[in-house]
Amino acid sequence: PAPGWSIDADVVVVGSGVAGLTAALRCEAAGLTTVVVTKARLDDGSTRWAQGGIAAALGEGDTPEQHLADTLVAGAGLCDEDAVRILVTEGPDAVHRLIETGAHFDESEEGGLELTREGGHHRRRIAHAGGDATGAEISRALVEAARARGVRTIENALVLDLLTDADGRTAGVTLHVMGEGQHDGVGAVHAPAVVLATGGMGQVFSATTNPSVSTGDGVALALRAGAEISDLEFVQFHPTVLFLGADAEGQQPLVSEAVRGEGAHLVDAHGVRFMVGQHELAELAPRDIVAKGIMRRMQEQDAEHMFLDARHFGADMWEHRFPTILAACRANGIDPVHEPIPIAPAAHYASGGVRTDSHGRTTVPGLYACGEVACTGVHGANRLASNSLLEGLVYAERIVADIAASHAENGLHARVPHPVPYPEVPAHPLLAPEDRFAIQRIMTEGAGVLRSADSLARAAEQLQKLHADARDALVENGKTAEPGVDTWEATNLLCVARVLVAAARLREETRGCHWREDLPERDDTAWRRHIVVRLNPDRT
Ligand code: SIN
Repeated sequence: PAPGWSIDADVVVVGSGVAGLTAALRCEAAGLTTVVVTKARLDDGSTRWAQGGIAAALGEGDTPEQHLADTLVAGAGLCDEDAVRILVTEGPDAVHRLIETGAHFDESEEGGLELTREGGHHRRRIAHAGGDATGAEISRALVEAARARGVRTIENALVLDLLTDADGRTAGVTLHVMGEGQHDGVGAVHAPAVVLATGGMGQVFSATTNPSVSTGDGVALALRAGAEISDLEFVQFHPTVLFLGADAEGQQPLVSEAVRGEGAHLVDAHGVRFMVGQHELAELAPRDIVAKGIMRRMQEQDAEHMFLDARHFGADMWEHRFPTILAACRANGIDPVHEPIPIAPAAHYASGGVRTDSHGRTTVPGLYACGEVACTGVHGANRLASNSLLEGLVYAERIVADIAASHAENGLHARVPHPVPYPEVPAHPLLAPEDRFAIQRIMTEGAGVLRSADSLARAAEQLQKLHADARDALVENGKTAEPGVDTWEATNLLCVARVLVAAARLREETRGCHWREDLPERDDTAWRRHIVVRLNPDRT
């Protein structure tokens, strides 16, 4: 459908987590007219679910160099060292600016920030809020600041596609907005700079820590726009997600790494600490190593889950330090004060995404990306715990500095969108909403924490069939699903799932969070490199 309305801005920010709102607030401060569009409510993204915290060299004796070293080890040979150096050196100040914006972090008795440890960190360097409610506090502070400063926002706005001008430069985005008064139905925000901060794609799997809105919309948009995508095969599975049954679907409660950081033990059904002896950091090894350790033990013992034992914390510590996790466990009939918590790995974080340079610029002029949707190079093959909120902060600020610099130099010129952005017959067939569940099952069976050439080939074939069925219905009968949020979400999920599986099939080795059962060794000779994908925009 043709857009029923349009508005103009200097910058449109898509997404309202830590990356999106930081970008929007800095844009406003730089005098840029900014519109934030977000798929649900302002605080509905992944940020508010973050528990453990935000990592930065803030503690006495800690340095950015040590943070760099831990990040590079976790990234298993594929981090971009320059990108990590930016992250760890600019990180501490970025956290202080977040505090100035209004976020309250937990403080120690001496008055400084109270810092905890998580997997892969050799030091206490994770700042946290409300015990284990760090993301909720950051989200609260940023949403309040955005409201107080009058940042223009459109909620319930699903981004559809990038608009470009005749020279292929960014000219804005199209949106499908539901129930937001004057901006209702399909419309457009025209802007010469678009910042994608749409978060992750955890919903591509059946069980994930991600909320239901994490459907890979930004990566799918970027693929359709011809931008480069990198490292999509590196999906991080969080080792300790509350186990609610083998058939559990959708968002699952996280049990933060910080619980292990404070001394909880991973044990099997016999109470044996199976991570001891596998890595010098035992339960606090990098996340991929712990997830693999758990999966291996589950396979050996034919068990559906392992346990996290933190009974020794006692009731007081549980209530004060981990109130969110305690409540989630109790809501599901488990009392961690008196019993070990059943846990299993579940999809958690996309280490790859839309490829950017050190200023958050993608390969499409005027299109930027930050936060989980982006692949800045800081995570490599496996993200270090609690580096993601920091990445959102640091790279959002760098993007705004870049936009403001081009504004100061040349002015930001509105671009005339290419004249055919709204074809009567969509170029891409839309999937039915229920296809989402088929995609999740296919991906969980074929491309989950354990993968092989055979399982990935099966997944590729099944995904191709879903695509072909939808395309045939469109091409042969002119039929496609009714456009709406759930049809676009299913369509975006299929788009990112196909690229993820293709990349996972290509990478014939095991590295970081990409675990090929048929190729268990890391192969630095052939595979110390990235898989970069760019779709031909004319192909469906
Ligand atoms: C956690 O609290 O374990 C999550 C931290 C992260 O994903 O970085």
